Amino acid sequence: MKQLRIGITGATGFIGMQLLQHFIEAGHSVAILTRSPEKIDEHANVTVYSTDLAQPDTAVLNAFTASLDVLYHLAGELSNEANMQAVNVEGTSALLEAMDYSKTRLIHLSSMGIFDFKNETITEESTKTPFNIYEKTKLAAEELIEKEEMKGLKVVVLRPSIVLGHQMKSSLLTQLLRLIRFGIDLKVGVKTYAKVVLAEDLIRALKLIGTKDTLDGQRYNFSNDVPLKTLLTHLKVTNESRLYFPLAVKLFQLGLRLGRALGVLRISPEGIAFFSSTSTISNEKIKKDLDFEFTADYRPFLQEYVTYHT
Ligand SMILES: NC(=O)c1ccc[n+]([C@@H]2O[C@H](COP(=O)([O-])OP(=O)(O)OC[C@H]3O[C@@H](n4cnc5c(N)ncnc54)[C@H](OP(=O)(O)O)[C@@H]3O)[C@@H](O)[C@H]2O)c1
Repeated sequence: MKQLRIGITGATGFIGMQLLQHFIEAGHSVAILTRSPEKIDEHANVTVYSTDLAQPDTAVLNAFTASLDVLYHLAGELSNEANMQAVNVEGTSALLEAMDYSKTRLIHLSSMGIFDFKNETITEESTKTPFNIYEKTKLAAEELIEKEEMKGLKVVVLRPSIVLGHQMKSSLLTQLLRLIRFGIDLKVGVKTYAKVVLAEDLIRALKLIGTKDTLDGQRYNFSNDVPLKTLLTHLKVTNESRLYFPLAVKLFQLGLRLGRALGVLRISPEGIAFFSSTSTISNEKIKKDLDFEFTADYRPFLQEYVTYHT
């Protein structure tokens, strides 16, 4: 196995932690960038660089990016809107500035939310219409990267939908579980799709992309959509015996909108739309170029998730 020098930003996060674990186990030398070095256990193969991408120390960024074969840029501000421009856009710009394009490939994690979900099928070529600040900054970072490609940057951009894993920060699954525990049987249409993907699939794809420079210059949407009805059925498995109260999705959405308007519910318009969106994300491009197979059955993960969160 060829020893690589791998850089990871966001290695202390939900996705980055799993990627870091892989590279440590595979015996590669890893450099990571974090604001909180205490979050990382000491390891002979791991060098920790500490700076804040919102106010980066250029010398630290230069040391971090030096001699990397592949740089995975996963760091991102997902919750504090006031910080999103500084971290997701200006932080990415500072990182690009420090990189040596002749030595290092970049693998950048963007987001499916940059697209307009009104389209029936979303492909890599679909219209991009981000609707919140987070997604706007993710698109702005992609645009910065595109400009740098003209100057020699070798990059692959991967755009996941909602990533499912035990340590996920999105409250999607816990909210769905809560509904089920309240005894609510949400009546969703068969064509309503949850745009989700398993973290283990994402890690597998990131690893593969790291070894394939033939993919440089490509953008990939990364989702393995599943009917919401199926997701709900798998989640219900632990509560088989209880009585459910059927609730039409339109009525449910009305309740959510009301709760949002009254300020008693913190749910975004896109969160509300999640329960009725019939659009789907095409994953044909990554399947073909990477010969990638997504995990077909969500059941084992969801059953584990329910056990873990009960
Ligand atoms: N989770 C999803 O469903 C999902 C879906 C689509 C795209 N993505 C993208 O995937 C990436 C990783 O997401 P995640 O869910 O793993 O996020 P996460 O758990 O919130 O982790 C965020 C990571 O970013 C780092 N970070 C944040 N602000 C930083 C700053 N100012 N300077 C340096 N590092 C900073 C954090 O490191 P420290 O706190 O250690 O500094 C942490 O490691 C993000 O770019 C996100 O946009 C995620």
